[in-house]
Amino acid sequence: MIYTVTLNPALDHFLDVEELRVDDANRVKREALYAGGKGIDVSRAIRHLGGDSMALGFIGGHTGQAMIELLKAEGVTCYFTPIAQETRRNIIVTTQRARTQTMLNSRGPVVSKDEWAAFLTHLKLLDLRDAYVVVSGSLPVGLPGDAYRQIIDVVQSRGARAVLDADGPCFKSGLRAKPFAIKPNVNELRRLTGQPLRSESAILRAAERVQRGGVEVVLVSRGAKGVVLVGRQECFRAIPPGVTVRSTVGAGDSTVAGFVIAHAEGKGLETCVRMATAAGTAATLAPGNQLCRAADVRRLVPKIKVVSC
Ligand SMILES: Nc1ncnc2c1ncn2[C@@H]1O[C@H](COP(=O)(O)OP(=O)(O)OP(=O)(O)O)[C@@H](O)[C@H]1O
Ligand SMILES: [Mg+2]
Repeated sequence: MIYTVTLNPALDHFLDVEELRVDDANRVKREALYAGGKGIDVSRAIRHLGGDSMALGFIGGHTGQAMIELLKAEGVTCYFTPIAQETRRNIIVTTQRARTQTMLNSRGPVVSKDEWAAFLTHLKLLDLRDAYVVVSGSLPVGLPGDAYRQIIDVVQSRGARAVLDADGPCFKSGLRAKPFAIKPNVNELRRLTGQPLRSESAILRAAERVQRGGVEVVLVSRGAKGVVLVGRQECFRAIPPGVTVRSTVGAGDSTVAGFVIAHAEGKGLETCVRMATAAGTAATLAPGNQLCRAADVRRLVPKIKVVSC
């Protein structure tokens, strides 16, 4: 089983207007609601690729219920821990004429100590043997700074492989639990190592150091330059073909989904990095906040150049 953890999910409310007039009424031409948050995006991308996962995390209030309904409609199984406060909601206003995008992000709920304890209890009830647990995104207010380390310790001591995609202090802290895999982009790797990482060889050396520190698979995503994967004995560079990018939103989450699906199917690391890169690049072909589409991934897989490094 693949589980994804989104501790700070959000309901994204997209509104399209011709132009945004402040201090005036604006007529909305089109609107859509999406369940958002990085772990949830990984679950949705896995669904697009024909796989199954279970989305975990915190959910509260009417906004939380709306999110669960949206996920159910997409075929994503949920097992969220309820919280007293309302799940956050982001409003994204796109103007069609000037092509601007204005985001209004709410602060989000405060999660109490008891709710955090309940989440860890829920985690321990799952069948974690040979499972994958994707831990991704930011932490809500109220959680301990080492929340990711605690989650990874719980799931890996019960036989699961944790895949961590985070940034800043919570990424650093999560690494102490030695997750099975991580997927930083180059900026996140820079912040982690404190190095400028100006060349490909510098990126590679940094990834190798992190790998030797106890992470079995380090995937570094590099936007249009693809993905570098460093394993215990193997190391690959995967380069996507040139594509016409429509939106890079969700590319990193699709990369994680592609990797986890392939690894869970028992594929070798060369195939895993190919799938990860194809899924990430496929996400850039889809407009707006859409994730990778299966047909694009299938078409891209043979076009990804994978070389040993
Ligand atoms: N311009 C591009 N052309 C082709 N592929 C791309 C491009 N940008 C991103 N990708 C694909 O998406 C993957 C992930 O992109 P990126 O490294 O930007 O991740 P990220 O910064 O973690 O993204 P996110 O903002 O979703 O977290 C890349 O490894 C690549 O496969
Ligand atoms: Mg990312």
